[in-house]
Amino acid sequence: MPKTINLAVLISGGGSTLQNLIDKIRSDSLHAHIKIVISSSAKAYGLKRAKQNSIPISLIEFADYKNTEEFSNTIVKEIEKHPIDLIILAGFLHLFKIPDKYIGKVMNIHPGLIPSFCGKGYYGNRVHRTVIESGVKVSGCTVHFVDNEYDRGPIIIQRTVPVLYDDTPDTLSERVFKEECIAYPDAIRLFAEGRLEIVGRRVRIVKPEETKQWIKQKDSNR
Ligand code: GAR
Repeated sequence: MPKTINLAVLISGGGSTLQNLIDKIRSDSLHAHIKIVISSSAKAYGLKRAKQNSIPISLIEFADYKNTEEFSNTIVKEIEKHPIDLIILAGFLHLFKIPDKYIGKVMNIHPGLIPSFCGKGYYGNRVHRTVIESGVKVSGCTVHFVDNEYDRGPIIIQRTVPVLYDDTPDTLSERVFKEECIAYPDAIRLFAEGRLEIVGRRVRIVKPEETKQWIKQKDSNR
């Protein structure tokens, strides 16, 4: 039986990624508990989704804090009230400065192939519009560990889709989101299985048969 891991999910808006995770957990294809949903906006529809699924919520609005540090510290304090294994950014629109001890324990999904079309302000359809205007023929999504910059950090999984000549931001977004719905649960499963090793800026996906050996090695290096 795969290990069940505890998640904290950070949102700012619609909560489509949150809903995907709820659905995957419901259908038993992702063995996880969402212990807390933290929203940076009282208006986020994702809060409703959490409530409908009896997931505890916490509202931490950026405007209530002096700066990114205070805002981020408040989030960390909230997370530390719960037994959390992994922090999931799911359409979270603010920079979340993480303490060093959380490096390798926070993931983000971006609806583009980073390091292109990402960074501050690159969110949702703005990404897809820029992708179409640039003329590239492929796009996709990226799940990555978070460092202290927007949409940056070691890449765990990328899934690609074609960009079609007739695409609008909406049609492209729909195609990419289907891949996001696969990529994020896959990355969370790999994390739960202890199969993600960060090597500098890269992530090595450890083969299942090497996992035990690798975890032993990791523990003896501590
Ligand atoms: C997802 O498509 C995710 O890739 C994107 O926000 C969407 C979820 O937001 N994230 C980013 O663009 C991060 N740069 P929602 O909760 O508003 O539906």
